[in-house]
Amino acid sequence: MKKESKKIPTHVAIIMDGNGRWAKKRLLPRAMGHSAGAKNVEPICEAAWDLGVKYLTVYAFSTENWTRSDDEVNTLMKLLKQYLEGCKEKCLKNNMRVRIIGDISRLPQDLQDTIVSLEEYSKQFDGLQFQVALNYGGRDDIVRAVKKISDKVNAGELNCEDINEELISKSLDTADIPDPDLLIRTSGELRISNFMLWQMAYTEMYFTDVYWPDFDKNELEKALIYYADRDRRFGGRKNESQ
Ligand code: FPP
Repeated sequence: MKKESKKIPTHVAIIMDGNGRWAKKRLLPRAMGHSAGAKNVEPICEAAWDLGVKYLTVYAFSTENWTRSDDEVNTLMKLLKQYLEGCKEKCLKNNMRVRIIGDISRLPQDLQDTIVSLEEYSKQFDGLQFQVALNYGGRDDIVRAVKKISDKVNAGELNCEDINEELISKSLDTADIPDPDLLIRTSGELRISNFMLWQMAYTEMYFTDVYWPDFDKNELEKALIYYADRDRRFGGRKNESQ
């Protein structure tokens, strides 16, 4: 794929689905699927940057994922903790900034401390801008934004007439991050599953049957080719009604 002749999405969002089925196919426990999925995150960050993507956001743990078995929730939390604890090194190596989107107040205090320290440390890096959605729900993001705005109205700092799309966008967890241009969902499901609902109003969608642990640079490139082709045919957002 020639980078210079194709339109590259600035922001790619990924629903990393299929860890469980990946493990089942290999007669392995689900936990090993999640572990393989976690190992795939760094190579995809590197591939995304290499292919010209500036922002990447992955859906690591949704507000709905708490309803999974205690065992599975613990496995996912352990993997996320391990990943985030080792993340400063990855940021330095890859010039990567990491931000967490989602309500981190429900997470264990040590994980919250790790997140605060990682976000602060990685502010200095201007390569890939990497967002991990953790205890994230699109509806919850909107509810929390509405509460922030209501507090300002109640405090007399804002009038109802000042509420517009821009203010809502700026009150979401993704305040300084452009809306995703492309959503990729692995493993064959055709749903958004409460991921960045407001932000994805105009996002192109790419679905693949490949399970997340098998989703590699070559698969990412296929998604980017699909996106470039959409752009060539529809000319971007201006002509989306066609
Ligand atoms: C969906 O697979 C995946 C998840 C619910 C979690 C995604 C988490 C990771 C990839 C690991 C940790 C992440 C980071 C950033 C280190 P599923 O269990 O729903 O798969 P299935 O639909 O095949 O059962």
